[in-house]
Amino acid sequence: MNGKRLIVMTLAIIMVAYGGQLLSQENVATMRGVKSIEDTSSAPESKRWEPDSSPLTRDFVQQPPLIPHSTKGYQINLKFNKCLTCHSWANHKEAGATKISLTHFKDRDGNELSNVSASRYFCTQCHVPQRDTAPLVENEFEPVKVLR
Ligand code: HEC
Ligand code: HEC
Repeated sequence: MNGKRLIVMTLAIIMVAYGGQLLSQENVATMRGVKSIEDTSSAPESKRWEPDSSPLTRDFVQQPPLIPHSTKGYQINLKFNKCLTCHSWANHKEAGATKISLTHFKDRDGNELSNVSASRYFCTQCHVPQRDTAPLVENEFEPVKVLR
């Protein structure tokens, strides 16, 4: 390969790689939008809430149960956790809510804690409001036998 061809090839590779990066940034749109890590993004608009009802059955035994009620305006931050005002062991009886699982009192190393583990503090990382809708992507998923 002569020198000129090598330079042209190298340039082509750089352009393809860079172009690909731009393209993938455009295609992979997150709900957060294309923002740098340090930027604060505004909360996405809420879809319509399903009326409060009983929880839908789980599809696999380890599934975080879906939230059977609206969580509109529920805040979870450093000082306050709206979910725990009803779901904590102290409050669940009065609120008539399911008390949080014992597994939520274990830290990532398996040590038992006396309060909710930091890794379980942001409830909506795992629990999402339920809605019975058509799947976004066609699939052949079947719940495990024990739950059918
Ligand atoms: C005002 C009280 C209240 C607040 C606040 C609240 N919940 Fe609930 N939640 C309930 C009640 C009551 C039920 C029980 C509904 C039932 O079983 O029919 C429930 C059910 C659930 C369930 C289903 C549990 C199961 O038995 O499978 C989940 C999951 C849940 N809530 C998560 C949350 C999360 C996450 C938040 C915070 C974003 C939250 N809840 C805030 C009252 C509350
Ligand atoms: C890292 C993911 C994760 C986070 C964060 C989390 N949960 Fe869960 N939650 C689960 C899973 C998985 C289950 C089902 C298995 C189990 O019980 O551990 C569950 C179960 C539950 C149940 C049902 C308990 C039962 O007896 O059936 C409730 C209620 C609940 N979580 C509430 C909460 C609340 C409130 C928070 C925030 C303080 C929270 N969870 C944070 C994953 C999570």
